[in-house]
Amino acid sequence: MSTIIIDGKKTSGQIKDELANEVVGLKEKGVEPTLAVVLVGSDPASQVYVKHKKKACEYIGMRSLAYELDEKTTEEALLELIDELNNRDDVHGILVQLPLPNHIDEEKILLAIDPSKDVDGFHPYSVGNLSIGRDGFVSCTPAGIIELIKRYNIQIEGKNCVVIGRSNIVGKPVSMLLLKENGTVTICHSRTKNIKEISKRADILVVAIGKANFVTKDFVKEGATIIDVGMNRLENGKLCGDVKFDECSQLAGAITPVPGGVGPMTIAMLMKNCIKSATNMLK
Ligand code: GUN
Repeated sequence: MSTIIIDGKKTSGQIKDELANEVVGLKEKGVEPTLAVVLVGSDPASQVYVKHKKKACEYIGMRSLAYELDEKTTEEALLELIDELNNRDDVHGILVQLPLPNHIDEEKILLAIDPSKDVDGFHPYSVGNLSIGRDGFVSCTPAGIIELIKRYNIQIEGKNCVVIGRSNIVGKPVSMLLLKENGTVTICHSRTKNIKEISKRADILVVAIGKANFVTKDFVKEGATIIDVGMNRLENGKLCGDVKFDECSQLAGAITPVPGGVGPMTIAMLMKNCIKSATNMLK
C-alpha cells in the first residue's frame, strides 16, 4: 500500500488561486476586501508571520493595511486603534498578531475586536458559534486541517478521530469541527493515561501537542490518516513535527509532512475568512 503525502503547499496554492478569482468578483461589485494586520513590538517570529500574511494578500489581489506599533504601545492606544478599525466600512478583517507584550491584556484585546471582522476566529463569540454549530469565523489552523482532509476525499463521518492536544487554538476547535463532520472524537492531553492505545484506534489522528517526534509508529493504526500540526525547531536548526514522519508514514494511509503540510493552509484559511467577511458586506 502506498502512502498519500498530503501536500498542504499545493492545496493552499489552489485555494489562493480560487480566492483570487473571488477577489476579482468582489471588486467588480465595488468591494475591495481589506485585512488590517496589527503587530505590537518586534518579535522576530511574529514579524515573519506578518510578512507572510501581507504577501498572501498581495498574491490574491487583496488590500492589507499594516499597523506596526512600538513595543511600549499602551493597552489603551491599542484598544483605540481596534475601535477605529471596527468602525471602518472599508476594513473587513482585523488581525492582532499574538503574542502581545506582557503589559497588554491579550483577552481584553481579542474581546474588543468586532466579531463580524474576527478573521482569526479567536473571539469568544466565534468560539461559541463553532461549539453550537452556527456559521461564523473558524480559527485558521483547524479550518485548514478540515479543508485538507476534505480536499483529499478522506471521509470523516463515522470515523474514529483522535486529537492529541487540547489547546484553544488547535486541539479544541479541530475537535469541534471533526464532530460537526460526524466523526467520533476523542481528545487526548497531558493527563491522558493510555494515549498510545487510544491513538492506535484512530482512523484520523490529529497531533497538536508541541513535542518533537512525540508520535511513533506504535501510536498508529495501519491505513490511518495522520495530520501533524507540530512545528518544532531541533537543535540542528531543522524543522520537525510532532510525528516521527519516517516510521509513521510507512504505516499511514495518508500523512502531512512538516514543513509543507498544515502550515501553509493556515494563511490560506485566513484569506478565505477575509473574503467571507467582505462577501458578508454585500448581504
Ligand atoms: N501568532 C501565531 N499564530 C497566530 C495566528 O494564527 N493569529 C494571530 N493573531 N497570532 C498568531
